[in-house]
Amino acid sequence: MSEAEQTLSIIKPDAVERNLTEKIKDIFTQNNLKIKDSKKIHITKDEAAEFYKVHQAKPFYNELCSYLSSGPIVAMILEGKDAVILNRKIMGATDPKNAEDNTIRKLFGISIDKNSVHGSDSAENAKKEIDFFFKN
Ligand code: CMP
Repeated sequence: MSEAEQTLSIIKPDAVERNLTEKIKDIFTQNNLKIKDSKKIHITKDEAAEFYKVHQAKPFYNELCSYLSSGPIVAMILEGKDAVILNRKIMGATDPKNAEDNTIRKLFGISIDKNSVHGSDSAENAKKEIDFFFKN
């Protein structure tokens, strides 16, 4: 039996603002992802730039960092079998227009920027991203 894995999830400002936090948390738990830790925070633009630095060469980087720091977010450690890939499946495609039915981004996403949630894209990045928010 494979061991439980952890991944990082962020509920982005657009979803926190629309009071979707509990609904989104319920979707994770109903899909076999346990919420091991959770915190609501408002990060600075510099912190967002550090978090998203893998995207620093992208044309949307500045806007992305402004957006993630524009209001409170909820960072969570999710745990379960194949948590990284399972979370990505539950979130749906980056652009809500392309997301499958019943995924979080299809249900709640507004645009490619305001796509309601972020999830780590690999186990290696999950470790880094969990440390970013949860290591003291
Ligand atoms: P996220 O999973 O948080 O990772 C990086 C984010 O960049 C992504 O979700 C989108 O919200 C945002 N983004 C904005 N424009 C683009 C784009 N053209 N391609 C991919 N991601 C984009």
